[in-house]
Amino acid sequence: MNWMRRVGTVAVTGMVVLGAIGWVPVRALAQTPIPELVARLEASGGKERPAGGEISVKGVVGARHVLPDGKVLVLVLNPGETALKVWAEGAAATELAPRHEVTLSGSPSAGPVGAGLALKAGSVSVLATNKPFGASEGRDAAWMKDASSLAGRYVQLTNVTFVEAKLGDDGLARVKAADGAEAVLRVSKSAAGRAAPVGAVDVFGFPVRVGDGWQLVAARVLQADRRDLVALATKHTCITCHNPEMKLVGPAYRDVAARYRDDAEAAGKLMSQMRTGGSGKWGAIPMLPFEGKVSPEDMKRLADWILGYRWDAILAE
Ligand code: HEC
Repeated sequence: MNWMRRVGTVAVTGMVVLGAIGWVPVRALAQTPIPELVARLEASGGKERPAGGEISVKGVVGARHVLPDGKVLVLVLNPGETALKVWAEGAAATELAPRHEVTLSGSPSAGPVGAGLALKAGSVSVLATNKPFGASEGRDAAWMKDASSLAGRYVQLTNVTFVEAKLGDDGLARVKAADGAEAVLRVSKSAAGRAAPVGAVDVFGFPVRVGDGWQLVAARVLQADRRDLVALATKHTCITCHNPEMKLVGPAYRDVAARYRDDAEAAGKLMSQMRTGGSGKWGAIPMLPFEGKVSPEDMKRLADWILGYRWDAILAE
């Protein structure tokens, strides 16, 4: 958990020893608001070189995607804003997980999918984790044909299905809306070869221009019927101890899904916990059995829904 170590280590101003003069404060790199920076970068095609050559920003990581050349595309924004593209490499890229609030610095650069910032190694500080993205704008897939009006904004493709049963080696996937329109998703190279989500899903992400088309960099993939499943979990009282996103008495379903993301037997294990209860996997507090209170069909629906959150973990890799 590399990022855990860095929480709270942001050094805004530092001090240096200067011979006999003593401690002298070093001026912090002034932070540039993201919308202003995006406008400047787009106008200059990424070639802008401000005095000092380095720009510092603060925002929430929206999505990340490993590009074919090994570079990582990260979109950083604040709720309601257009996202800033950041190119990162190696260890620095792993700290930029979706929903981390970060400060980082870099220099303007023209990257493979437009103008952005080339990340300065060692400049990332994680200020908080699990930040919400705020409201997204719901869209159907036909809109992706020309996404220019919403380039870099947080949007949602509703009720799409994956065209292929497995994700491609390049981390790209085609999705189809109910009306037949298709869109290309950039998922993650670490998801290559994985079984695609089955059934209708809502995909949240950021449109980016690639060549002469538009692709959506996926930030979250959630089941389209998740509201019905929250209602089912409420009816069966699961929600008194569990929240999908946050730890309560029991673990967050997102964390449960992350732990079992590569386990083919996961649904059976979760159903067994529901039937017989259990303790010790997430702490000392036990979960009581639901055998006879929740039907096997509902247990299966709840298990599949909980495991749907594994995409949060896959997209953060
Ligand atoms: C009274 C509180 C409470 C209620 C109600 C409750 N749980 Fe839990 N649940 C827990 C606790 C505590 C744990 C952690 C147990 C452990 O450490 O093994 C847990 C763990 C789990 C796990 C993780 C199992 C694993 O193998 O890692 C799942 C899945 C789960 N609960 C699902 C449900 C579902 C579905 C319901 C509703 C039918 C439900 N829970 C109701 C408290 C509760």
